[in-house]
Amino acid sequence: MDILIRYLHLFGVVVLAGSLIIENMAIAREISREDVRNLVKVDGIYGASAVVVLICGLILLLAGPKPSGFYTANPVFHVKMTLFVLVALLSIYPTVFFLRNRKTQAERLAVPVAVIRVLRLELVLLVLIPILAFLMARGIGL
Ligand code: HEM
Repeated sequence: MDILIRYLHLFGVVVLAGSLIIENMAIAREISREDVRNLVKVDGIYGASAVVVLICGLILLLAGPKPSGFYTANPVFHVKMTLFVLVALLSIYPTVFFLRNRKTQAERLAVPVAVIRVLRLELVLLVLIPILAFLMARGIGL
């Protein structure tokens, strides 16, 4: 069971990172109507994978082989959680933009620079999280 949850946690991370990379590659100052619809789908996968990562992470935290105090006493764990929450909060803005425009009839859609910057920033923050995960799992920072 522990292995399955670990696998799903990592699988969620892989899908999360993959969908965020696709979003970063597809986004531009101007995108087509088809791009918007595809981005809505990829963004849905991104959201679903974040939920899988969170649920499996919580199971590992609360019911994994190590006591939860092993993680909660470590500042590295709190930095990891803060980054995760930050990425989740940042992702609201592009999601709202894609959903608002999913039924656009215009051939081309102008994308605010802020949407592009937020997607780039999410990726930068996401890159840092696995390093923190490895440190935390080994009790470095306690
Ligand atoms: C994008 C976000 C996340 C990434 C990239 C990530 C990454 C990882 C990785 C790579 C590991 C394996 C570490 C190892 O075994 O050496 C891990 C384990 C773990 N993660 Fe996450 N994680 C994320 C979010 C979360 C969240 C939201 C939680 C808690 C709510 C969480 C809790 C845990 C726990 C408890 C472990 C087990 C550590 C151990 O084996 O002692 N993670 N995570």
